[in-house]
Amino acid sequence: MIQENVDITHRHTFAIATQARAWADYTTIDELRQLIATARERNLDFMPIGEGSNLLFVKNYSGLLLHSCIRTIETIREDDEWVWVKAGSGWIWDDFVAHCVQQGWGGVENLSYIPGTVGASAVQNVGAYGVEACDVIEQVSVLDIETLQEHTFTVEECLYGYRSSLFKTEWRGMFIVTAVTYRLSKKPQFKLAYGNMKAMVGEKPTLQSVRDAVIAIRRSKLPEPSVCGSAGSFFVNPVISREQYASLLETFPDMPCYEVDEERVKVPAGWLIDRQGWKGKCVGDAMVYPQQCLVIVNKGNARAGHVVQLAQDIAFSVFMAYNILITPEVNYVY
Ligand code: EPU
Repeated sequence: MIQENVDITHRHTFAIATQARAWADYTTIDELRQLIATARERNLDFMPIGEGSNLLFVKNYSGLLLHSCIRTIETIREDDEWVWVKAGSGWIWDDFVAHCVQQGWGGVENLSYIPGTVGASAVQNVGAYGVEACDVIEQVSVLDIETLQEHTFTVEECLYGYRSSLFKTEWRGMFIVTAVTYRLSKKPQFKLAYGNMKAMVGEKPTLQSVRDAVIAIRRSKLPEPSVCGSAGSFFVNPVISREQYASLLETFPDMPCYEVDEERVKVPAGWLIDRQGWKGKCVGDAMVYPQQCLVIVNKGNARAGHVVQLAQDIAFSVFMAYNILITPEVNYVY
């Protein structure tokens, strides 16, 4: 099952020339158990990888990459209003969304066309156009790496926040997601507040028309992973105090913000970066994507060092201009 010395350039969406010491596809939890045991015997580090859409390999990976191909799907239960669906971690996220839309299950249509897998989306709490994965997640099934036992967490236990969960913090490296259970609606309530989505879908939105609108918006702003390497938003949008925001407005009166709570707002990092003149700027073949400055793309032969240098330069300039620290959303893998 284990492939040795694998070229993973096209097994992560940044498409930066990289090798991994070992790679394994698995389709069952038992296979995953065996792989972890083998990695331990061989003294190899290991980590899960989905589509690799949120990773920056800073150097060749010296361990074993565990790639879930668990693509099961099960309706756990349903009533007049809801359906509970358990999807294997290896589903390509957008294939899962397309399946839900086809079945008439609402809740994930705004998350159409996000690169990645079901398993990774539950770690990262992907979000777009007014919806986050945790809005529809009911439970997350995992394998405990230490005990090799299966366990299920409720959505509350995962402590989801903006692009965050305990899987990324306290539980980092402790579990591998094997499946996610979603509660989807048979009577969808559409969320169309973003931009001109309402106008795009017309008077009578359907799951399919919302999906089509989201895909059209993403295509206009974000690079197509199959055409141009990137890892989506490179930074998370920073959360700042309302006090700091008010004082920034004196100098930057058109700075947009998203509401967070009574004390805080979130500001779009793409806007902060754009206003500092980064659009289209390059280090080597790493470039700030002109249509959305929050994204760094690989123009062809970027090396990880170019991306890291560009990201550092951007973060420094944003800090100097606004006294705001922006941090990567992308995970650096060493
Ligand atoms: N903006 C600029 N210049 C830019 C980019 C953005 O002025 O180069 C301005 C826009 O005009 C707008 C504001 O910044 O006023 C926000 O931009 P946008 O609507 O594109 O959203 P975002 O905050 O930059 C976030 C997510 C995206 C998600 C969109 C839509 C994060 C880190 N990113 O971007 O998610 O698609 O909202 O909901 O939260 C991803 O995570 O990879 C991703 C693409």
